[in-house]
Parts: sequence; structure tokens; C-alpha cells
Amino acid sequence: MRAPLASLPPRAADLADRILERNPMHRGFLERAVAQLSPDEASRLERYLAFADAQGLTPDHLAECYLTVVGDALREQVFFRRHGRYRYSRFAEVAARVYDDPEFMHRYMYGLAMTVFLWPNHLAMARFFERTMPRARGGAYLEIGPGHGYYLMTAVASGAYDSVRGIDVSAASVAQTRAVIEHFCPTHAGHYQVEQRDFFDATDLPPESADAIVMGEVLEHVEQPDVFLRRIAEVARPDAFIFVTTCVNAPAIDHIFLWRSPDEVDALVRACGLEIVEALRLPYEGKSLEACAEERLTVNLAYVLRKASAAPAPERARG
Ligand SMILES: C[S@@+](CC[C@H](N)C(=O)[O-])C[C@H]1O[C@@H](n2cnc3c(N)ncnc32)[C@H](O)[C@@H]1O
Repeated sequence: MRAPLASLPPRAADLADRILERNPMHRGFLERAVAQLSPDEASRLERYLAFADAQGLTPDHLAECYLTVVGDALREQVFFRRHGRYRYSRFAEVAARVYDDPEFMHRYMYGLAMTVFLWPNHLAMARFFERTMPRARGGAYLEIGPGHGYYLMTAVASGAYDSVRGIDVSAASVAQTRAVIEHFCPTHAGHYQVEQRDFFDATDLPPESADAIVMGEVLEHVEQPDVFLRRIAEVARPDAFIFVTTCVNAPAIDHIFLWRSPDEVDALVRACGLEIVEALRLPYEGKSLEACAEERLTVNLAYVLRKASAAPAPERARG
């Protein structure tokens, strides 16, 4: 059998070489990850790298983008082990360091896009999205925090929606999302819009107006995830497809809301007027969910949700 990295198409193999030149310790992880890619996924990674090339990004730069995300995760893991919490807890602290820093955000989002293929848990969530996203429903698709834009681009490319809208607080994410759609869906201009906005401020979205709502890896980035989930329940049509991913015990520079168990997230989702249709709980590589709970290791979570048939009772005021 060929070694996994040798089976990659040329751009991806070159990227893997450049990553490993800089970080030889990453070899085992990368080989195991690449072994999981189907030929179609490897060829999608190849096309993504061709897109990055068309944006003028060199293979060395892309390797550095990817290692920015790996390095950040390691650094924040050390902080988390030492202090038992994420480094930051306020949106404003993170906005200044991350979302409003175009250079960092550029590296971070290109790096994160590559993890969709090169991190098995991220790949599993992307497969879950591909499998569950309705393609015959039409209507309005809304995505909160598209970031690198790969999921939003998938929705545009599917041609399944009458309108596609993305809302992201970071100018760099908005630019990257537009670029990836323009590259992969050149004939879809006018069928989508991507706006720079904080979803907290998007109070003008009409109730029951969205047929699909997608929010990948955003809930852990906000101070009040319950407000986001309630708002999603409000904006969703009664039969809307709702896809949300998040993570527990997952330190990163911009993660400010710390969930300590998947059950906590399930409970919040339900308390916010949403029902769980299907869920994935993806433990840290090589560990069981039980070991993750004991050792406070990262678990990635992905949900297909729907609006609960009965609205939850309003919260009682304290005091
Ligand atoms: C980690 S990235 C997620 C990218 C992609 N959705 C994914 O699943 O890989 C988080 C994105 O959410 C955006 N974001 C964070 N807080 C936000 C908010 N309050 N409103 C809108 N977007 C937000 C960030 O700018 C960033 O682009």
C-alpha cells in the first residue's frame, strides 16, 4: 500500500511536504488524517489549493496559514491545562486581536479551511453537512459566521436555494467568503450576499424567514450563545433545516464561551426552542468520549436541529 501522503494529488502532496518541513512532529497526525480522505475529498482539497494559488498565495504561505491554526491550538491548550479556562471571555478582547486584524484573520481562515480536509473531526462535520443539507427545498439560506466560506460556497454551488446570505463580523472573513464563491461559482453572481455584521445586531431579519440556517464554529465565539440560538429559532421557518457545530473543552485564541460537556450544549439548544434531529459527538483523536470527559479533552459537536413545535416557556425574571 502507498504511504498516505504519496497518494495525494500534487498540490496537496506539496502542501503536506511544506507543513512537515516546518513541523515534523505533525507527520503521524497528518498521515492518519489523509488516510481518511476519499478520492473525491482529496480532489476537492486540490481544487481548494488551486483557488488559493489563484489568490496569489504560495504553497509556503499556505503551510504557514495551516500551522498558525495548529500552533494556536497548542498554545491555548497549554493555557487551558494550566488555568482550567479559556484565555479570553469577552468578545471585545478577541475582536481586537482576531476578527479586526486582517493579517491574522487571513492566515487563520485559510488555515481553518484546510482543516476541513486535514482534521478528521472537521472532515466528519463537513461530511455531515454535505449529507444533510437539503437540496430540493429552495427558499432562503442564511449562514452566520461563514469565515473561510467553504460551507457557504457549497450551498451556493448546489444551486438549491433561491437566495443565499452570509453574515460575518470580520471584514477579512467576508472578503474570503466572497473570493471562494467567486472562484467556484462564477455564474452565481447576484444569487448571494455576504455582509459584514455582528449577528447580535441583525435584528432586522424577519421572523420565520429562513429555510436553512447554518452556523459552523461560532457559538463558542460569543458571550451569550443562548441569544444566538433563540434568534435562530425565531428566524427559522417552522420546517427549516438548522445546522450548528461547536465544541467543548476546545481552547483557541477566539473561543470565549467554555462548555465543559456535550450534555450542556444539548440542554442549551433545547432550552432555546430547538429540537435535536441528529447529532454527532466527535471525541479527541484516539480517545473515547468517556476519556474526553475525564481528561477535559476537546469534543467536536455537530447538530441538525429544527424549531421546536411548541415554544419554550419564557424564562422567569430573577430577583
Ligand atoms: C471559527 S470561524 C468559523 C468558520 C466556518 N463557519 C467553519 O465552520 O469552519 C468563526 C467565524 O465567525 C465569525 N463571528 C464570530 N462572532 C460573530 C458574530 N457575533 N457575528 C457574526 N459572525 C461572527 C468570525 O468572524 C469567523 O469568521
